[in-house]
Amino acid sequence: MRYDILTIFPEFFESPFSFGIFKKAQDNGLIDIKTHDIREYSSDKHKTVDDTPYGGGGGMLMKIDPIGSAVEDVKDESGKSIVVLTTPDGEKFSDKTARELAGFDQIVIICGRYEGVDERIREMYVDREISIGDYVLSGGENAASVIVESVSRFIPGVLGNDLSPENDSFNQSLLEYPQYTRPEEFKGEKVPQVLLSGNHKEIDEWRKKESIKRTFTKRPDLLDKAILSTDEIELIKELKETSSPSFKAYIALIHYPVYNNRFKIINTAFTNLDVHDIARSAVTYGVKTFYLVQPNLEQQKLVNRVLTHWTQGEGASFNKSRSEALNLVELRNTLEDVVEEIEEVEGEKPVTIVTDARSVDNMIGFSELRELIFSEAKKPYLILLGTGWGLAREIMESADYTLKPVSGYTNYNHLSVRSAAAVILDRLFSCKI
Ligand code: ADE
Repeated sequence: MRYDILTIFPEFFESPFSFGIFKKAQDNGLIDIKTHDIREYSSDKHKTVDDTPYGGGGGMLMKIDPIGSAVEDVKDESGKSIVVLTTPDGEKFSDKTARELAGFDQIVIICGRYEGVDERIREMYVDREISIGDYVLSGGENAASVIVESVSRFIPGVLGNDLSPENDSFNQSLLEYPQYTRPEEFKGEKVPQVLLSGNHKEIDEWRKKESIKRTFTKRPDLLDKAILSTDEIELIKELKETSSPSFKAYIALIHYPVYNNRFKIINTAFTNLDVHDIARSAVTYGVKTFYLVQPNLEQQKLVNRVLTHWTQGEGASFNKSRSEALNLVELRNTLEDVVEEIEEVEGEKPVTIVTDARSVDNMIGFSELRELIFSEAKKPYLILLGTGWGLAREIMESADYTLKPVSGYTNYNHLSVRSAAAVILDRLFSCKI
């Protein structure tokens, strides 16, 4: 593999690859890393590589002509070659990208600098734009060295004969299992017995299990991509019982006060289908209680009849899982009653989150709210869902957070409340497997 790194700081690369396996890989001819000073390709006498943007605005942009000449000079058209630009707005670099790049004979890396590059550089010369993470560095040199190091690990022979990148974390979308070396005991902490047993089958099983366990607790998002056997999925089911995050989520379906289609405050009627479906979603995603806020006495009678049928009556023995779901449902007169009850159970007032199909200012996104709920898991969270044409203004305005509306790549904006509830619960509480 040949790397050609285009940079205005070639000295940056003097040390990162001058020792260890990278030095060896270069000595053995497995990789060849060349740096090129972009200034050398500038045609003016001051060796300018940057200029102010057309249209005004602060900062400097990297000019196209020196970079264009550098790429044309170093790119080897005879082999399989790719041009990469390091930039914070590129695709997120991953193990998968590294593996794909390792399939080329030459990678030309343009290290972005200043406030960006002339757009035509991307259009005319770049095949792939890569970011190493959601943060901004002052230049792409660190990103280039990350790319070179991780791609090189996939080149046969670079890691030596007895090491394989296949066992590294991420390669099977699972994190690596815990490893131990001598001493067998340190300050009372012992190496797991199975690793000393010499039984390789048991060791392999233990490692796989630990790898899944570690991924489940630290990076559940990776499990989404992992190819797992049915035994491994069984193991994850056990982990769900013992090692799931302990958030305290509540939802309430509000029948009053909500709007009708002429924006008048009304009390809506109980909808059997909504209650069944939201209750089933609530159990699936670990919601503690699903409240129905319904002050109308006639409606309450109806709700109670349905709930009693499924939780105590014939329905309870007929369909146990439905009974489990509807056991989560509690009927209350007002939202204030719900908040008070949660405060009594949890020892503090719930953080309230409202949802609406309409957009308002300062809404919170799903991933931000999910992070908040998981990082401050001791607090109770109450998600309020409106029936009819949506929650009354007073409820919307008194909530702690307004969640962004659920949306797809269309502007159709009329999900049923039970569908919206399922999507919201999945985005906030799914375990990604
Ligand atoms: N240049 C500046 N920040 C960067 C980042 N996060 N990834 C790649 N190149 C960059």
